[in-house]
Amino acid sequence: MKDFFWGTATSSFQIEGDITNDFTEWEELGKFKEDGSNPLYGNGSAHWSNWKEDFDLLKKLNQNSYRFSIEWARVEVVKGTYSRAAVNQYREMIDYLHELDIEPFLTLHHFSHPKWFHELTPWHKRESINSFFEFAKIIIDEFSDKINYWISFNEPVAWALAAYGEAKFPPGFNDLKLMMDAIKNMMEAHILVYDYLKVKNPNSKLGIAKHFIIFKEARNWLLDKKITSRIDIFFNKMLINSFEQNRLIYWFPTLLKYDSPIQLDNKIDFWGINYYYKIYAKFKFSLKNPIFLFPKEPATDMGWEIYPKGLKKIIKFVAATGKDILITENGIATNDEALRKKFIKKHLKIVNKMRAKYKVRGYFYWSLLDNYEWLKGKSKHFGLIKVDYDNNFKRIIKSSAFYYAKLIKKYSTL
Ligand code: BGC
Repeated sequence: MKDFFWGTATSSFQIEGDITNDFTEWEELGKFKEDGSNPLYGNGSAHWSNWKEDFDLLKKLNQNSYRFSIEWARVEVVKGTYSRAAVNQYREMIDYLHELDIEPFLTLHHFSHPKWFHELTPWHKRESINSFFEFAKIIIDEFSDKINYWISFNEPVAWALAAYGEAKFPPGFNDLKLMMDAIKNMMEAHILVYDYLKVKNPNSKLGIAKHFIIFKEARNWLLDKKITSRIDIFFNKMLINSFEQNRLIYWFPTLLKYDSPIQLDNKIDFWGINYYYKIYAKFKFSLKNPIFLFPKEPATDMGWEIYPKGLKKIIKFVAATGKDILITENGIATNDEALRKKFIKKHLKIVNKMRAKYKVRGYFYWSLLDNYEWLKGKSKHFGLIKVDYDNNFKRIIKSSAFYYAKLIKKYSTL
């Protein structure tokens, strides 16, 4: 086993290209409404045709692991019919990672779905559990002997909020009760995946990549503090608590009251931490939405506030679960390479300190390549490698990529 996993993270839809799924469908229908723009997917970052070159770059940049996802819409275009060709290409990709001695971390669900899914078995209905499990079984049957590290869901709470609470992602609901039902069904599916995987490969590890945000009250007001704490519970704590308490519970005055049993029995081997920023919360007088969130010092092209110390707090919090920890995403959208290097340096310093104290097993920078950012399209550049979209998707290694490679070396020999 590797002493520490150093890598980058991607998701299939954001980089592969050549995909038709619920997001491309929404794009065609002009349904993405954040800032009125309709993000264009194009051919993603053309990774589906350039994967070999991209994996060679991983190796060149000293990375010993790689987090990616399988595109459900590619594997199961029609419900119940699986594409052999797609599975075969994923097999080739995984085999090549092994050839390069790069540990693959496979995510089964990273935001996107086949086009049929929301119509036939959407997440707020119980039929969704089986739909997803059928797909997961195909992938587990194929790869259980090749993949040691699995992630069932990427950011289930953040996804459900965007898709069911704020109507920003497909299927586009505005209903908090349905959102909680969707989260619950995703976790029911997680349980099935966990049990199945353990039979197929008892040594494999299954986790969830969870979004964490540092929330801070904007003012020293009781109401600001109260809503900050409620939001913090929803985003950061609710899911983790459900694994320990076998209940999915949340309430927010005037908005939502939910309490439902779920037999999770702490079936998770590691928690993935996806961490990006800190944000301030302010109470506002509105029964419909009493929350106003804003950054005090926006510093990235996403308008996010950089706060490396937050990672320390989160690791400490997650460590209390006793589970292994992987930093499954951490990164910055910018064209300023000096800023990206500073970002990486500060976060890695914390990771390195914390790994001496807690069971932190790896770090994955988001992302390997410039890619399609949800709701924003190609305008945000998180990658260590630039993708020249106007020049046949040519890969250009940024100086921050070499900087990260240098730090990997440094921290590996300490
Ligand atoms: C998601 C990624 C996304 C990144 C930056 C995470 O929430 O998992 O898919 O690109 O944040 O927004």
